[in-house]
Amino acid sequence: MQFFIDTADTDAIRRAHEMGLVDGVTTNPSLIKKAGKDHKATIQEIGTITDGPISVETLSETAEGMLKEADEYITWGKNIVIKVVMSPEGMKAVRALSARGIRTNVTLIFTPMQALVAAKAGATYVSPFVGRLDDIAQPGIELIQQIRTIFDNYALDTQILVASVRHPIHMLDAALIGADVATVPPATLLQLFKHPLTDQGIATFIEDAKAWHKG
Ligand code: E4P
Repeated sequence: MQFFIDTADTDAIRRAHEMGLVDGVTTNPSLIKKAGKDHKATIQEIGTITDGPISVETLSETAEGMLKEADEYITWGKNIVIKVVMSPEGMKAVRALSARGIRTNVTLIFTPMQALVAAKAGATYVSPFVGRLDDIAQPGIELIQQIRTIFDNYALDTQILVASVRHPIHMLDAALIGADVATVPPATLLQLFKHPLTDQGIATFIEDAKAWHKG
């Protein structure tokens, strides 16, 4: 499973990249707002940190508008993926972009059939939102299992990019199911390192090494 980082915070991306945790980056308008910097400058800076795919979200409500934005976004870096919302206009845009060989990420997926529609339009990635489903008391991870089954049934090569990840268990479940990618906030990536026995073991080794060094 690939790890994408779900943030527009370039310092956080740099730190995670140094630990080998960044196969790609996803952004959305809320994350760009939170990072507090110019959209284009932020994406271009991310492109200096990683060679992995960077999802950049279109803001228009019409396919025509989305395609215009995509034409600009692809000039911002060499590995730009155009993020498009799940809607009829969005799927028109995905179909057109896919015909031109431009990679797309269909976002705001909450049902397996939305994922199938996006795959049929030619999406490179679908982004099912597990955390937001959990928030309304629907088990988000079941959606991932259903999409995996459907894509495998028909040998669809659209990649499942698990989004709205809130904790390491989402990642564990996604990996067990065979999701292609999980996009993860920086703090959750760091949680993956943690286990109390690891911390205790490190402390013991350090203590024992001190005694041993003293001879
Ligand atoms: C990523 O592509 C999504 O936009 C993001 O994971 C959404 O996460 P949230 O539900 O925590 O806002």
